[in-house]
Amino acid sequence: MDKARMKAMADRVFRDVAGGMAAGLAWLGCETGLFSVLAERGPLGFAALAEASGLVPRYVEEWARGMVAAGYLDYDPAAETVSLPAEHAWLLASDGTDHYMGGLFGMVPPLMAVAPRIRTAFREGGGVPFADFPPECRHAIDLMNRGNYEHRLAGYWLQQLPDTVARLEAGGRVLDLGCGNGQVVVALARAFPASTIVGVDPDAASIAQAHAAVADAGVGANTELVQATLDAVPLDPPYDLVTACDCLHDLPDPVGVLRDVRARLAPDGVLLAIEPRVADRLEDNVNPLAAMFYGFSVFHCTTQSMAHDGAALGACLGPTRTRALFAEAGFSRVDEVDVRSPVNLFYAVRA
Ligand SMILES: C[S@@+](CC[C@H](N)C(=O)[O-])C[C@H]1O[C@@H](n2cnc3c(N)ncnc32)[C@H](O)[C@@H]1O
Repeated sequence: MDKARMKAMADRVFRDVAGGMAAGLAWLGCETGLFSVLAERGPLGFAALAEASGLVPRYVEEWARGMVAAGYLDYDPAAETVSLPAEHAWLLASDGTDHYMGGLFGMVPPLMAVAPRIRTAFREGGGVPFADFPPECRHAIDLMNRGNYEHRLAGYWLQQLPDTVARLEAGGRVLDLGCGNGQVVVALARAFPASTIVGVDPDAASIAQAHAAVADAGVGANTELVQATLDAVPLDPPYDLVTACDCLHDLPDPVGVLRDVRARLAPDGVLLAIEPRVADRLEDNVNPLAAMFYGFSVFHCTTQSMAHDGAALGACLGPTRTRALFAEAGFSRVDEVDVRSPVNLFYAVRA
């Protein structure tokens, strides 16, 4: 046995378990506002941090020590204060922006909460349906994606499809497939007030939250939310744009749903599909981003499709298999949209 290799693996195990714990601690930092307090107040001693955050001192101190150990917070031993570097605050204390990364931590507690059920599914088959994930899962998806939809969807991503934008400005029709908490619906309704935006999702809790998001944003007049699968949506009038954000790979019957999308597109209509950015070949996916996506896939995407005896494509489909789905559903043209994103691939798909 190669002792150096074994030692490297032992280090790796410590690092990965530490990573899991750091993600949990960082989730607490986001959810309790501790990161925001540090971003606003600068360096603080443990007692001052507890007082400023209104939280229980013993927990706050242990949390802060752990976040120093994990490299999230800086520690000044002379002053006995902790601080959140500005670069870290940009990513961790910036909820609602397109550079906020805190939502990613939010996936860890709800996904680990269903881990024992997934262990059973490994032995017996089946899976955990979307509706069975704890409410924190919908909250985390919302936090992960909201800033991007608000700041990039209409202002950057869709600008790569100028004909579609012109139609929507004049008053077109959009369908958001798998609309979840409604952030895409809200962003598009704000950007295109002359258009009608329809959000469709079978998950009752998501549609309830989407209704709240639409009401909060005051965009009820040009939006509609439907708790259903797409086959229940009328074929007429057709849609100028269908968006499928982070949901295609989750669908139990992706080709069937894509056929339903095609049937509902206007003659020059476009499907904009947004999927995780992963490479086709496993050997090109040996990196932290793909490892994260595979984790999300096993603990969420794959299992919720397996729960319906579905295609279980998983989050790491890659571009070639994604394009094959569009072709199988009868689409004639697929263009990768020129959008710079470390995490997503964008496809413009035409009938
Ligand atoms: C990962 S979430 C993405 C939600 C939202 N599009 C976003 O980007 O934040 C996937 C969504 O697909 C929805 N979904 C699952 N099966 C579906 C189906 N057959 N038709 C439409 N949506 C479905 C789920 O309920 C869930 O809201």
